Amino acid sequence: MFDATRINESTNARHVEIHQQLDSTNDRALQLIRQNEISTPALVVAEHQTAGRGQRDRKWWSDEGSLTFSWIAPLVDTAKYNKKSIRLIPIASALAVIDAVESQSELSGLKIKWPNDIIVSSRKLCGILIETVSLGSDTAVVIGIGINVNNEDLSSRQLDSLGDRTTSPVEPTSVFVETSRKTSLENLLLAVAERLASQFDLVNSNPGSIVDRCNERLAFVGQTIKVVSPNRILLGTCEGIGTDGGLVLKTRNGVVTVYSGTTSVA
Ligand code: BTN
Repeated sequence: MFDATRINESTNARHVEIHQQLDSTNDRALQLIRQNEISTPALVVAEHQTAGRGQRDRKWWSDEGSLTFSWIAPLVDTAKYNKKSIRLIPIASALAVIDAVESQSELSGLKIKWPNDIIVSSRKLCGILIETVSLGSDTAVVIGIGINVNNEDLSSRQLDSLGDRTTSPVEPTSVFVETSRKTSLENLLLAVAERLASQFDLVNSNPGSIVDRCNERLAFVGQTIKVVSPNRILLGTCEGIGTDGGLVLKTRNGVVTVYSGTTSVA
């Protein structure tokens, strides 16, 4: 279905793999990195994933109509990459997907459910799983992206897989469900890859622009939200993303910035 030659020619990826079926594109990307077998940036695409992974060790369910791939970013010098840059990668990736989806479909008004879920009308359209591998003085960053594009009948299929705990605590949706129009997966892939490359550059060259754009697209601003992180649960008003990439919450005990967790309306 995907045209490898076109993808090779139309992206700056120096290694492109298109698989009809894979367990997980992130697993394949991590394997390539560990085997030192690729030049970056690189793109691993699967038409179908049999064991897609989501955040917090959950499964990522995808089916006919999904776009599933991993982008391996250019290696970064670990010493130059500070904590702030690393915190901005999830939102920079989410912004790349939002821009690409809105450019390739009639969908608009996509929002970031911090840190990096993409929602529309409170329903989840895309999940992103970011993983890093240390390679001596460098770090390899894998950005795994699953977008519900042309999927039909999402809810019932998602319900079928609830037995093994789906990734998404919010109802899923797809570009097709929202617009009744089919979108070219290949064009969307190219659009996301192009924007990932430019967003990734901005993480270091102009981090403020990522924070500003994220705040324009952030869900729940001004609303009372619950943030569940590994060691605590916080309730507060969502104030937006701070300059250091954390989520700023106004709680009963003062203003708190959180750096990991999941958000939902309280
Ligand atoms: C989440 O919302 O929990 C993140 C889901 C990420 C899914 C994508 S699909 C492509 C890549 N390969 C994987 O195994 N996972 C990511």
